[in-house]
Amino acid sequence: MKPVRVGMVGIGQRGLQHLDCLHRIPGAQVVALCDPYEDNLAEAKIRRFVPLYQAAATRRYTDFGAMMQDGGLDALYLCIPPNVHAGEVIRAAEAGLHLFVEKPVSLFLDEALAMDRAITSAGAIATVGFNQRHDNWHAAMRDFLAGKRLVQTTIVNNGTLESHSVKHTHTETAGGPRNRVWAANYAWSGSTVVEAGIHQVDLMRYWAGDIDWVEARYQHRAEDDIVDGGDNPYGYSVTFGFACGMVANLVMTRLRRTFWGDGYMDIAWDHGHLKIEGSGPVAYYYDGPYPPAGAVGGDAVRHPLPVPPRNDNTMDINRDFIAAAATGDGATLRNTFHSSLNSHAAVLGANVSDRLGGQRVVLAELLSDERYAAFRQKEGG
Ligand SMILES: NC(=O)c1ccc[n+]([C@@H]2O[C@H](COP(=O)([O-])OP(=O)(O)OC[C@H]3O[C@@H](n4cnc5c(N)ncnc54)[C@H](O)[C@@H]3O)[C@@H](O)[C@H]2O)c1
Repeated sequence: MKPVRVGMVGIGQRGLQHLDCLHRIPGAQVVALCDPYEDNLAEAKIRRFVPLYQAAATRRYTDFGAMMQDGGLDALYLCIPPNVHAGEVIRAAEAGLHLFVEKPVSLFLDEALAMDRAITSAGAIATVGFNQRHDNWHAAMRDFLAGKRLVQTTIVNNGTLESHSVKHTHTETAGGPRNRVWAANYAWSGSTVVEAGIHQVDLMRYWAGDIDWVEARYQHRAEDDIVDGGDNPYGYSVTFGFACGMVANLVMTRLRRTFWGDGYMDIAWDHGHLKIEGSGPVAYYYDGPYPPAGAVGGDAVRHPLPVPPRNDNTMDINRDFIAAAATGDGATLRNTFHSSLNSHAAVLGANVSDRLGGQRVVLAELLSDERYAAFRQKEGG
């Protein structure tokens, strides 16, 4: 089979991780890299993250238009901050390229919808970087939950603002934070729920199907507590209503000066709980005679799922995408650009709900209703 000729836009934190995987996948051939900042294209820098990288094997561009004009690509990766898209996805789809777009695909629903239309009309194979779906423990949990009546999921994620890494985008020259920690900044990240929580939201969708509505309240950061543009809220309390009837709560905090974090996850079906423990997913349920003759508890209700050691899910999402691009068969992808829109609408809908004082936002209405038009637009809203 002919190798898939790959171009990549955005050679920063995530792009470098994908490049490292792609250099270890036999069917992939990285032929072109694009980044507006020359230092991000330097061979020595890329090699620090991608030991197999050879500059001589790639064309390097600081201009996306020039890269597209030269052609010679089958697939394009987009690994850029979600607020800086400027038509690259649409242009690439129209040029017949298959697409791997990092989450969140945009901070603006109109822009995401326009990308989706271009991808659909081109018939491109397109996926979004929801690598959590490729974690083999998460896949085993999906199999276990299939057919069960899911009632409630709770995910708590306490983190710190300082734990966000210094990124590779020169945000200080592009109207963003001086310290390049753009994930802490609302205008660049779209909030912690949009930038990071979207992984948990998409994972819940992997287990439970699509989301119908969202209600959210954020605790916004006090003006006098904003340092270096790190203005994302202190905390987020978001409730999602799923089409299957399940209700889920995502609670996140990003405090400063704490240097401490933890998390909790519980998926409840009508007669049990599923969690992830150190050695793998564990279900808690009773499967003896009912009603029981005596007290029930301990090992009688603890059921570890049989799982292999955890895999490298970033490697596996790349493998799947390259295989799909090579064969022209996107049916094996765990999520397509189109199917991922529900995850994007859910987190962007959380922002809208917060701005509306916690009102319920029905996602189908958010995507098309006139009263949400301003919230969907790139400017204003
Ligand atoms: N799936 C995951 O687990 C995961 C992990 C990290 C980041 N991400 C996502 O990947 C995307 C990129 O994040 P990152 O952490 O790599 O950020 P980053 O700032 O480290 O890297 C982004 C790269 O894009 C380049 N860039 C910036 N503006 C550009 C433009 N207009 N055109 C072309 N290139 C441009 C920057 O120079 C930089 O090299 C984000 O959407 C982020 O949410 C996903």
